[in-house]
Amino acid sequence: MTRLIDSSATDPTDVRLDTQDFDVVVRELAAIGARIERWKATHPLPPNAAPGEILAAYAPEIERLKRERGYTAADIVSIKPNNPNWPALRQKFVEEHTHHDDEVRNFVEGSGAFYIHAGDRVLQVVGEAGDLLSVPKGTPHWFDGGDVGDFTCIRVFTDPAGWAAHYTGDPIWRTFPRYEKAA
Ligand SMILES: [Fe+2]
Repeated sequence: MTRLIDSSATDPTDVRLDTQDFDVVVRELAAIGARIERWKATHPLPPNAAPGEILAAYAPEIERLKRERGYTAADIVSIKPNNPNWPALRQKFVEEHTHHDDEVRNFVEGSGAFYIHAGDRVLQVVGEAGDLLSVPKGTPHWFDGGDVGDFTCIRVFTDPAGWAAHYTGDPIWRTFPRYEKAA
C-alpha cells in the first residue's frame, strides 16, 4: 500500500501523520510542492517486461506529464533482487541530496521509499506499482529500496544530466528508519 509518514526532522519518532489514504497523501505532498498520482498502463504488462514495452504501455501518461510539466525524456531504471550492484547504488541514493531537475518516478514493479525533507518535517512516502511520485528540484531528499532492492521505475526528466545528485552532507538520513518491504 502507498503510505505516507510525516514526522519531525529532528525526531523521527514524533509522527504527525501516518496514512494509507491516497487522497490524503496527494494533499499532503501537494502542500510541499511534491506530487503523487496513480498511473495506468494501456494494457497489462508481463513480469520483467522490456523497457520499450513498458514505455509504450505508459506512453499516454508519460506524454501527458511531459505536456503539463515541460519534461522532455523518459527511460527505465530496474533493480532486481540480489543485484550485486545494489548495495553500492543503495548507498548513493540513501544519503540526503538535491537535484537541479525534478525527480519523477513511476513504480512499474516493486516498491521503495522516498524521504522528502521539507523544512522541519520529513515526509516518507512508500511508493508501489502504479504510483507516480515527483520530488521538486532543489528539495533535499533521499531514497531507499530496502535490503534486497526490487523495483522497476519509469524516470521522466527535463534534462537527463540535470538530476545528478548534489549531496547536502546532512546526516539526517542516518536517523530515520531504513525502508523494509512489507512481507
Ligand atoms: Fe534523488
